[in-house]
Amino acid sequence: MEIRQLHPLFGAEVSGVDLGRPADAATIGSLWELINRYAVLVFRGQRLSDEQLRDFAGNFGRLEIGRSAAEGGKRRLALPEIGDISNLDEAGRLRERHDRRRLDSLGNRIWHTDASYMPVPVVLGMLHAVTVPSASALGGGETEFADMRAAYDALPDAMKDAIDGLVAEHDVFWSRAQIGFSEFLAGEREKYPPSQQRLVRLHPGSQRKTLYLSAHASHIVGWPVPEGRILLYDLNLHATRPEFVHSHKWQAGDLVIWDNRCTMHRGRPHDETHPRDLRRATTLDVGSTLDEAA
Ligand code: OGA
Ligand code: MN
Repeated sequence: MEIRQLHPLFGAEVSGVDLGRPADAATIGSLWELINRYAVLVFRGQRLSDEQLRDFAGNFGRLEIGRSAAEGGKRRLALPEIGDISNLDEAGRLRERHDRRRLDSLGNRIWHTDASYMPVPVVLGMLHAVTVPSASALGGGETEFADMRAAYDALPDAMKDAIDGLVAEHDVFWSRAQIGFSEFLAGEREKYPPSQQRLVRLHPGSQRKTLYLSAHASHIVGWPVPEGRILLYDLNLHATRPEFVHSHKWQAGDLVIWDNRCTMHRGRPHDETHPRDLRRATTLDVGSTLDEAA
């Protein structure tokens, strides 16, 4: 495997590995080391079937069944462990402008870490590009990543001390409320209640402290809501400053792995009259952040 660092702080392109083949334990171990160090890994020229993506991701942990796949009903993709990160409906047609799922998924355009509203959140996101839109005046549908360990390190010591023990409440209804989306299905509120997460986590693979921020983070437990929301707003502004951000320009065949515990990400706009078809496998953590070492 060859490594090329993509950004002064994090992110690496890895070449010389075929992820479609069954991987041995030594390869998975090496990839974990790279993930722990770089947080975002980019592999080009992989053309994985959904089964291959599921099987590769399964080497890193149990796989999440996302909110959309858990809804039931007809899907475009057969495997529930593969999230449909596309602008296509179950028949493979471009979704209409007012399509409920399309509007829900626009929540991905706000900086977030995936599924932080779940009591046991996720670890690795693995996004594989099948079809990508070409560059347009609206943008090319890049995905941006921000380094939350570097953002934590850059905080003044007094701020680190002030936030180290705080717990935030994360709620998918809040991230969607921020963009004015409220068309949740009956029963979703009960199925996805808010969860509490540490605001500062110790990243186990690197023993570095990291901010655990997300669009889902609504307020600070025990604080007046407006005060906690302002703190989160300020921390988000700090943590997504350009020096902490790497932008990934997609090519078909890319596989990007990121560690949701120590990065945030967001999708960028693109020409919606062209298909953008990405597929995501996501590994689950094994416990609540509240039970982790501080
Ligand atoms: C995701 C996500 C952003 C994008 O798949 O979790 O946030 O660029 N995607 O599609
Ligand atoms: Mn996401």
